[in-house]
Amino acid sequence: MNLESLKQQAAQQAVGYIKSGMRVGLGTGSTSKYAILELGRLLAAGELHSVVGVATSQASQDLAVSLGISMEPLDPGILDLAIDGADEIDPHLNLIKGLGGALLREKMVEVQAKELIIIADHLKPVDFLGQKTPLPIEVVPFGLEGTMLRLTDYGTPELRLEVDGRPYLTDNGNHICHLRFDTKDVVSLERQLKGTLGVVETGFFLGMATLALIATPEGVVERRRKPSKKMYGEDK
Ligand code: A5P
Repeated sequence: MNLESLKQQAAQQAVGYIKSGMRVGLGTGSTSKYAILELGRLLAAGELHSVVGVATSQASQDLAVSLGISMEPLDPGILDLAIDGADEIDPHLNLIKGLGGALLREKMVEVQAKELIIIADHLKPVDFLGQKTPLPIEVVPFGLEGTMLRLTDYGTPELRLEVDGRPYLTDNGNHICHLRFDTKDVVSLERQLKGTLGVVETGFFLGMATLALIATPEGVVERRRKPSKKMYGEDK
């Protein structure tokens, strides 16, 4: 079974959690695309109605609008649900996100969701964050070299480039640095990065996901975050 059909399976299962009348955060990336397509299909078939979407990127907004999904901009109101992909998922459902470049809007939308469902293929779960992928960090273009230099205190940063060699631009007009890091204390790292001048937001999504739907060749596995008073990393 190929990766695309696994992503589609996870996405379709997640859309099963959407009920008529809900306000739903729509994620970004190749897995989220399948969720938006499925939502559009169910609305067109009349199996769902009165669902309103809030997009985490211009690309997801455009796709949703093309499918006739009613969309609203982000306001301070609570979202019933958000569905999105991830780049890494640890055993506590902490995440690295943003290799698709949309981490800032994803975090702003998903922090307002009562439930955040992560959809992924079986290659995304890891033992600890940073095991496979770097951490995407959104930075302002102004003073970029200085910000990159400050990030070397925490690992090895690399500016994300387009194929033509220009720095990648986010929907917010910022750039993305990919940081290779080797600490397991991601709570402290997140705090330090958020306090670094020039950094807008990081791709750590800690304590946000409530449910992960991981598609494997044997079927979709549901992993729900266990309520715990322990902070991430304290049991290491
Ligand atoms: C977008 O910025 C990301 O956070 C994506 O959700 C993440 O990169 C997963 O993308 P795929 O579903 O394409 O792997």
